[in-house]
Amino acid sequence: MATQTTSIHGEWSGKLAFILAATGSAVGLGNIWKFPYITGENGGGAFVLVYLLCIALIGIPIMMAEILLGRRGRQSPMNTMALLAREAGGSPAWKLLGVMGVIAGFLILSFYSVIAGWALAYIERAATGAFTGLDKTGVEQLFSGLVGDWEKLLGWHTLFMALTVVVVARGVRKGLERAVSILMPLLFVILVLLVGYAIAQGDFSRAVDFMFKPDFSKLSGEAILIAMGHSFFTLSLGMGAIMIYGSYLPSHVSIGQVTLVVAIADTVVALLAGLAIFPIVFAQGLEAGAGPGLIFQTLPLAFGQMPGGVVIGTLFFIMLTFAAWSSAISLIEPAVTWMVERTPLERTSAAFAAGFIAWLLGIGTVLSFNEWSDVTWLGRTFFDNLDFLTTNILLPLGGLLICIFTAWVMRRKDVLDELELPDGALFELWHFLIRFFAPAAVVVIFLNSMGLI
Ligand code: PFF
Repeated sequence: MATQTTSIHGEWSGKLAFILAATGSAVGLGNIWKFPYITGENGGGAFVLVYLLCIALIGIPIMMAEILLGRRGRQSPMNTMALLAREAGGSPAWKLLGVMGVIAGFLILSFYSVIAGWALAYIERAATGAFTGLDKTGVEQLFSGLVGDWEKLLGWHTLFMALTVVVVARGVRKGLERAVSILMPLLFVILVLLVGYAIAQGDFSRAVDFMFKPDFSKLSGEAILIAMGHSFFTLSLGMGAIMIYGSYLPSHVSIGQVTLVVAIADTVVALLAGLAIFPIVFAQGLEAGAGPGLIFQTLPLAFGQMPGGVVIGTLFFIMLTFAAWSSAISLIEPAVTWMVERTPLERTSAAFAAGFIAWLLGIGTVLSFNEWSDVTWLGRTFFDNLDFLTTNILLPLGGLLICIFTAWVMRRKDVLDELELPDGALFELWHFLIRFFAPAAVVVIFLNSMGLI
């Protein structure tokens, strides 16, 4: 039975530490790199609206469920699921939810590290003044000069993965918890500053129209799937990362409260990133649907022209790297805890082994921007396929299973107990969302994107 009150792997110092760590996991490349470019590719307003609805009606309820499972099980996601299934009289196969999460974590980290490597490379470029005086073509060339060179990409990918492994090996508390608590607020300040610049120098009103005036004719079934997938990706849901962080959460902290704080912070950062980027895109005649290179082409234009751009640009990419770093560690934490529980490896060797696997897989993404850029399957490159499979399929599937388990397998009394919510209207609303609404929405969106309904 789930009587353990702390995890053998550790515990956060308190509520605030959890909020910081979970926000660190949630806020990352997904908000600043991915959200703007998929919004650009999928036509803007209507996509943003679906994304916001997914966060509110699917993401937040599932995040509460995932934290709840983690805190009740207090082990790696696989063993937590096995334990809770036993407690509720469910099938031992629920363990597979944890297995799926570990696989998704490896796959996501493999490409995440390559993109974070771009951010690292751009710290150097910003600091050496490489953006000064560049025009549209200049920034495009600078970007293609990086991604077209697989050796450079491999180097930065290796460096980022090493940074991730070192922190995971040492345990999260001392190093990253402290760094993130300073850097995240700073990142926020710089983003606000960039939005200010975009208001002054960019085509702000067109950007606001683009992001917030829904044009439903641009919304395809696949765009809805991408918006839903992204709501899982950006909140780090459906793969055990939030579950493992929940397992370090002290008892008696209100899960609903911490979830709201994390989800709001995450959403605000994404919207600010969009508002910083699109005004520049429109003012400079750049392509909103430019794809994964979008922020690496728009922001350098701004940094190259604004006063103090070298310092602000350098700081920005340092912070982007930190945001990616605090997310990356949560991507392998489930695998590492599982290895510690089930193999003779201790934390350090487990972290190195997991990092090595993700690094190897990352080579596919490195090559998909250059040597393999013409090699496609289902019309997508290796990187695009990996991103599609994890974000749009594995994470929503993980979320769906979390809903089913929490709402249909666990005893209602245990759920109420763990959630620390009074048995009233708020609980009923949440229970309805995870029992009926969220699972149905995920299934409908899946079927719709396949053209089946
Ligand atoms: N939420 C992170 C981002 O938006 O960049 C990515 C991520 C981290 C996804 C951890 C999943 C995860 F488990």
